[in-house]
Amino acid sequence: MIQEKINQYTEEINVFPGGDAAAVEAFRIKYLGTRGLIKDLFDEFKSATPEEKRSLGKVLNEFKKLAEEKYQAVKERSETGGPAQTDLPDLTLPGESLVEGARHPLQLVRKEIVEIFKKLGFTVAEGPEIEDDWHNFTALNFPLEHPARDMQDTFFIRKGGNDIALRTHTSSVQVRMMESGKPPFRAIMPGRVYRNEAISARAHCFFHQVEGLYVDENVSFADLKQTLYYFVQELYGEGTKVRFRPSYFPFTEPSAEMDVSCSICKGAGCQMCKYSGWVEILGCGMVDPNVLENCGIDSNVYTGFAFGMGIERITNLKYEIRDLRLFSENDVRFLKQFGTEIV
Ligand code: PHE
Repeated sequence: MIQEKINQYTEEINVFPGGDAAAVEAFRIKYLGTRGLIKDLFDEFKSATPEEKRSLGKVLNEFKKLAEEKYQAVKERSETGGPAQTDLPDLTLPGESLVEGARHPLQLVRKEIVEIFKKLGFTVAEGPEIEDDWHNFTALNFPLEHPARDMQDTFFIRKGGNDIALRTHTSSVQVRMMESGKPPFRAIMPGRVYRNEAISARAHCFFHQVEGLYVDENVSFADLKQTLYYFVQELYGEGTKVRFRPSYFPFTEPSAEMDVSCSICKGAGCQMCKYSGWVEILGCGMVDPNVLENCGIDSNVYTGFAFGMGIERITNLKYEIRDLRLFSENDVRFLKQFGTEIV
């Protein structure tokens, strides 16, 4: 009985549009007055069975709160002269604006890199993030127990006769590509890679790379230099200088690291380039003949070059970001700063 009345009154209260002071006062007297309907309900409640009381008490109190709140609302509106509430939505209210998403800065830069290499005829290749020892290390000329394996702090998933690990670089995709096809190869391999590093502003346990591979007859170090030179002019603008420093990677010989003139201070010296005017952006070299042979390619006929860069590093330089952790924290205040391009 009580429940049915509550249902009925609730409906009436919900549709009550409010009105002038007299209408509001009538509402108060009807529901909340000393001889009002709620008083009646509480009287009726007193004679309910203990069992009914248990379930009805809460409902009754909630109903009373609803009536009180409605009364406060319509009273306020009648005093401030606001419009009476009707069932129709108020079409003069401003609409709800849509929250627009945006591309992640790493995605924007990845896209930019891919577009540049596409102009040179490079295709995009991808491969698994969980790799076996062969594709991540052995085929790339890292002999077992060779100290070069320590250059990359690896997350092993299974260690033993047949190691399984999170790939430490996307060079593994180059191996897969060479094994399963025939030269010429001209592709870039963007993707996420993992290294067992303590997380800080300057290091993270995962990051993103774009590696590249070009294998054909007569590919030379001059081709490597010209390709990367073109890439840098496109990425950082005409006039960006490059320099190559000798380096070591097991899978390339000779190997080099490439620096570009600091895009922020244009070589004058700033915090980003540690006042040297140069920043290192990638590693590269001529594919070691052993790697070609490991992948079934005749190293007497074919030569190739390879390179690899970290997308985070390039993005940091482009947007002057100084803390790698920002990329994976998903703080929208950070993410919203990179344009709203969503395609
Ligand atoms: N694989 C290297 C790295 O992750 C980068 C690299 C790729 C260097 C190709 C030379 C040639 O550090």
